[in-house]
Amino acid sequence: MKTIAWGNDHTAVELKKELIPYLESRGYRVLNLGTDETSSVDYPVYGEKVAMAVKEGKADLGIAVCGTGLGISLAANKVKGIRACVCSEPYTAKYSRLHNDCRVLCFGARVVGAELAKMIMDEFLETEFEGGRHSRRVDMIMEIERRSGEEE
Ligand code: RB5
Repeated sequence: MKTIAWGNDHTAVELKKELIPYLESRGYRVLNLGTDETSSVDYPVYGEKVAMAVKEGKADLGIAVCGTGLGISLAANKVKGIRACVCSEPYTAKYSRLHNDCRVLCFGARVVGAELAKMIMDEFLETEFEGGRHSRRVDMIMEIERRSGEEE
């Protein structure tokens, strides 16, 4: 059974009430690291929590949701070794796994509705990395992370 780290800020509290049970009905174990309150919180906290859970092997993949998906993805991408992507439709979600080996999916609760979010999540969670020539390109991305880190 795959474990999914789930994170969200206050904008996605209603959406998660439908999406987390959906994921569980599809056979995933969900680690709920997001807020369950509608009072305003800071999305970077949740982007980091999801990315760290994936990095530390507590989850196989992560899903992080804020208003647009952007802020939480920027935060998740700051965790070394993590590739997070914002997807507003299923095609990009599929290729984010197939070609980019992204391990954290982000989307906007103010952008996509529940049904579209389910299709996006399905593509992301059911697609495996293709490897081959894409491994070299993903390695190139991670090399940029290593090189730029040395200058700090
Ligand atoms: C919160 O209002 C909003 O800024 C946040 O959910 C997200 O969209 C940030 O990128």
